[in-house]
Amino acid sequence: MILILSRLRSPKFPVRNLNSLRTYYNVKRKSAKEENFLPKLIHQKIRAKGPMTVAEYMKEVLTNPVAGYYMHKDMFGDSGDFVTSPEITQMFGEIIAVWFLNEWQKMGSPRPVQIVELGPGRGTLSNDILRVFSHFKALHKASLHLVEVSPTLSDVQAKQLCIETTPSPESSAVYRRGMSRHGIPVFWHKQLEDVPHSFSLIIAHEFFDALPIHKFHKTFNGYKEVLIDIDNSEEGKEPKFRYTLARHETPMSKVLLKQDETREHVEVSPDTLAISRTICERVKQSGGIALICDYGHDGSGTDTFRAFKKHQQVDPLVMPGTADLTADVDFRLIREGGVITLGPTTQKNFLLKTGLEYRFKSLAKNIEDKQQLENLTECYNFLVDDDKMGERFKFCALFPETARKILNKVSVVGFSWGNC
Ligand SMILES: C[S@@+](CC[C@H](N)C(=O)[O-])C[C@H]1O[C@@H](n2cnc3c(N)ncnc32)[C@H](O)[C@@H]1O
Repeated sequence: MILILSRLRSPKFPVRNLNSLRTYYNVKRKSAKEENFLPKLIHQKIRAKGPMTVAEYMKEVLTNPVAGYYMHKDMFGDSGDFVTSPEITQMFGEIIAVWFLNEWQKMGSPRPVQIVELGPGRGTLSNDILRVFSHFKALHKASLHLVEVSPTLSDVQAKQLCIETTPSPESSAVYRRGMSRHGIPVFWHKQLEDVPHSFSLIIAHEFFDALPIHKFHKTFNGYKEVLIDIDNSEEGKEPKFRYTLARHETPMSKVLLKQDETREHVEVSPDTLAISRTICERVKQSGGIALICDYGHDGSGTDTFRAFKKHQQVDPLVMPGTADLTADVDFRLIREGGVITLGPTTQKNFLLKTGLEYRFKSLAKNIEDKQQLENLTECYNFLVDDDKMGERFKFCALFPETARKILNKVSVVGFSWGNC
């Protein structure tokens, strides 16, 4: 990998503007009336049908077509909510791109090749991947497929990635298509099932932690599902919500809880299970490599459901739709898909083994400006420090069984090749 990295260009200004990058996703509402749309809708739904699951709540809050958090937001503002690694520095996307190039080459660089990104945000990671692939002339017979539910973010991605795009009917498998600045076709899909079956390099960065979870709490009478109800304890104009426990066994508690479960709090995401199974099936049937990067644990995580607004952790039940909701990913669910699975390993481990320090040094030596150098160093530390993204952020890679012979000879960079 270092050999490939050493052939990358080293521009003089490799740091993305730190000030604006830390202000991600500025939510702009059109009117005060819209501001209350989601609280009112959730209030009405609970009044009509009783308390809702955390999964239903997350789905409404994040992806409701009218007012979901992800659906109608402007790119960059002065008051965003959170920051992601590709938005901090190009070094992150470069390492991911070179890792894919390296592993794909080991498999004989099958073509045609689809680069598939789930939840591409501003399109920055895909853009960095295309830039690196283009630099190494690896885009012959390639296409980019973006799985994105947000119409507003698909606009942002289109601007960042394409010379031109054209919309398709909302109901079709491809709802937008375009031509990238690097000369390959780009397709937008609402779900992974709509992406054509072909050899794919699949990347999901901070995608799975946005998927709805069911929450369970251990009581003297066994596990009960955590639900969200109306809070009538305070008078006020705004609808208020509170957690409550389901009195009886819910359908999800029957299906999702393991017999030998012991944790106090358990969170399970059926969507994570379903989408990761789809990834595994594709990797098995059509060939490919997947890299999943997210906040997560290996089945030991407990109470991780949280909300972020302007870089602060806030109450997920207050003003739904104005803060991002997230829960750590249970990588155990991803690991059970019947393909070769490596990891989860920490971001620090992955990035240092794949040459981040080398790339950092080769960029740093071209920088004369002291402030720029400080910024680059700050970005590097942000990616690998234990108390920043280094420890809590995890990487997991999926390969088809057919790649085992090759990987036995040359193991996967960034992971340990033990009893896989
Ligand atoms: C936390 S952002 C991550 C953005 C980007 N990957 C990054 O790291 O900068 C989550 C992304 O997933 C998208 N998303 C959330 N739920 C989705 C779903 N159910 N289907 C498709 N995309 C979804 C959001 O619109 C957004 O693009």
